[in-house]
Amino acid sequence: MKALVYHGPGQKAWEEVPDPGILENTDAVVRVDAVTICGTDLHILKGDVPEVTPGRILGHEAVGTVEAVGSAVRTVTPGDRVLVSCITACGSCRFCREGHPGQCQGGGGWILGHLIDGTQAEYVRVPFADNSTYLAPAGVTDESLLMVADILPTGYEVGVLNGHVCPGDVVAIVGAGPIGLSAIMGSRLYSPSHIVAIDQADSRLEAAKQFGADITINNQTQDPVDAVKELTGGLGADVTIEAVGVPATFELATALVRPGGHVANIGVHGQPATLHLEELWIKNVTITTGLVDTFSTPTFLRLLRGHQLPVEGFVTHTFALDEFEQAYDVFSRAADTRALKVCLKRS
Ligand SMILES: NC(=O)c1ccc[n+]([C@@H]2O[C@H](COP(=O)([O-])OP(=O)(O)OC[C@H]3O[C@@H](n4cnc5c(N)ncnc54)[C@H](O)[C@@H]3O)[C@@H](O)[C@H]2O)c1
Ligand SMILES: [Zn+2]
Ligand SMILES: [Zn+2]
Repeated sequence: MKALVYHGPGQKAWEEVPDPGILENTDAVVRVDAVTICGTDLHILKGDVPEVTPGRILGHEAVGTVEAVGSAVRTVTPGDRVLVSCITACGSCRFCREGHPGQCQGGGGWILGHLIDGTQAEYVRVPFADNSTYLAPAGVTDESLLMVADILPTGYEVGVLNGHVCPGDVVAIVGAGPIGLSAIMGSRLYSPSHIVAIDQADSRLEAAKQFGADITINNQTQDPVDAVKELTGGLGADVTIEAVGVPATFELATALVRPGGHVANIGVHGQPATLHLEELWIKNVTITTGLVDTFSTPTFLRLLRGHQLPVEGFVTHTFALDEFEQAYDVFSRAADTRALKVCLKRS
């Protein structure tokens, strides 16, 4: 088969590789029908995630058709249309049983396109298939379903829920890429009074407006701390969500929060950031970090089946499955191309 193989920082190629097969009786092999690229894949290509070694097939989000299953797989059978989640769950370790498979100790967690070969390929082996795939609901497009593989649960669990967004809150979200936009969409489920989106790219801020931010700030031309202070009578935001993954945006998120507020970091960081404890210690601030667990995936599948989430706006560009070079180029130059999520589809 063909797959997108990582060859070290800045290098990748769509090339011939061996077909994946069933290695454990809990595996499924899924034919990839639709796949996307994550901001995390860009971090990997920058060298920010050194656990990803040369030769690894990238990608951790897909919608596909089950091709083969191991003898112990119970919930999916060949021919089923499934969502492949970015998180694999062994289902039996302590963290899986506590609802935190992102921290799985039994061979799962974020492994696809990280520690084992991923979804940016014609076929992918999915370990622990019963716990790591979801039957696709009828009437939901591949493009919409793909948004549940990673970004919608991530924005919601690591941003909205960790940040304790409550009705009436002022929520400031730093970064309006797909993850920041998912955090906007998830925050709206809780009726905040204001959602402030902060980004350096005007195209992303326009998208943030469409997704439900009522205030947008380009932090290259306007000081977001002043603007949020003015909005909140000098206090700061109830919840700030970091959705970029660089030191400056983490530090900005901590500068934007009110006393007693929550800072929810979502970004994948490759560099240390400064924690301004000399300012924060007295403010009763809660700072959370996290890898998505995807415990909210069933919730999002129900919301999609009921057409309760306007996810159609996410996919801005569609490519054929072998057009990864073009797709990465468009996704990585989002400020110019206005890309949000790209979708590569088997024809
Ligand atoms: N914690 C998790 O489980 C998890 C899961 C998925 C993705 N992520 C991470 O979430 C982050 C966002 O992902 P994405 O797909 O939306 O990425 P993206 O690269 O598409 O979006 C990042 C946005 O940040 C903006 N930005 C960059 N520098 C900025 C600055 N200094 N000030 C303000 N805005 C700035 C960019 O213009 C862009 O719109 C990434 O770090 C990604 O790795 C984390
Ligand atoms: Zn991701
Ligand atoms: Zn586990």
